[in-house]
Amino acid sequence: MNAGEWKEKLSAIRDSFSVSIAKKPADNPEALELRFLGRKGELALLLRDLKDIPLEERKPLGALGNTAKQEMEAKLAELKGAAPAAGPAAAPGLDLTLPGTPFPKGSLHPLTHVMNRLAEAFLKLGFTMSDGPLVEDDYHNFEALNFPPFHPARDMQDTFYVDAKDAAGKFMLLRTHTSPVQIRSMEKTEPPIRVFHTGRVFRSEAVDASHSFAFHQIEGLYVDKGVSMADLKWTADAFMKDLFGSGVKTRFNPSYFPFVEPGAEVDMSCVFCKTGAGRCPVCKGTGWLELMGAGMVHPNVLKGCKYDPEKWSGFAFGGGIERFAMLLYGISDMRMLYENDLRVLKQVQ
Ligand code: PHE
Repeated sequence: MNAGEWKEKLSAIRDSFSVSIAKKPADNPEALELRFLGRKGELALLLRDLKDIPLEERKPLGALGNTAKQEMEAKLAELKGAAPAAGPAAAPGLDLTLPGTPFPKGSLHPLTHVMNRLAEAFLKLGFTMSDGPLVEDDYHNFEALNFPPFHPARDMQDTFYVDAKDAAGKFMLLRTHTSPVQIRSMEKTEPPIRVFHTGRVFRSEAVDASHSFAFHQIEGLYVDKGVSMADLKWTADAFMKDLFGSGVKTRFNPSYFPFVEPGAEVDMSCVFCKTGAGRCPVCKGTGWLELMGAGMVHPNVLKGCKYDPEKWSGFAFGGGIERFAMLLYGISDMRMLYENDLRVLKQVQ
């Protein structure tokens, strides 16, 4: 290497140092120091090459090299001074006074909210919570509820059967309603009894705005001495008023369920149009919304649970929780409750 080549190389090194140091964000100063000034750094190696250059030319070159080295050292010291002590917390451009990234807060599902509200309404009326399995046997879902085998009332509840049999050799099924919890509660408890249950039920139904193959129901049962239809009417009315406000009215329509006699549908005055006048899409202009099934517990059901129907009488009522949720939150399509669209879920906190 001759003196000219050496000078060129030195200026190339200075150029690349200037480029590196001017970068934004700047390179790590320690790494730059190692690369240019370290024992095997670019400048150190170049200075070592001086020994090949004739003595008389070497001196001015050496001075040039030293100046370059001092400049680089000064620039690196400057960079280190400006650089943060350590760690990402103090990285350049990071403002520690800014608020943190908000973490989205979860909330209860609207159906869970409604179930809690229904449960509260029952608890206030002195009912206690009861439970039962989702996979039921034929006896608890149908027979004990006075649906004999092949009874046409079974057709009201299109049933999913499971590929497993119970002790009686009958196919198990996904419970079609929460009424089997009435039976399970009476089997476990001596009268009097006052229980409720909320939970999932299943029917082989096509999904549309008001049907699903899996949905939720509420169930209430009260058996005591001298319980009458008047108690049922008062309780159903108090229950509805608790949920929808004291302004709502209830009425009973005759209906049929094998496990109650007499049986009724419980209607509530329309919470949307209030009057029934006009063309309310919710009550279809009738002014009434059908909300629950109800009735006096059938003597056959009491007998099957070893409650003497001569001594005890009771009522039961139940209905779909989705329907309550839709009315309470103004949801027009039941599927919105299952799609987990946050725009819907966030409206119920
Ligand atoms: N289990 C009935 C149904 O699912 C509703 C009901 C409950 C009716 C309690 C009367 C008493 O249709």
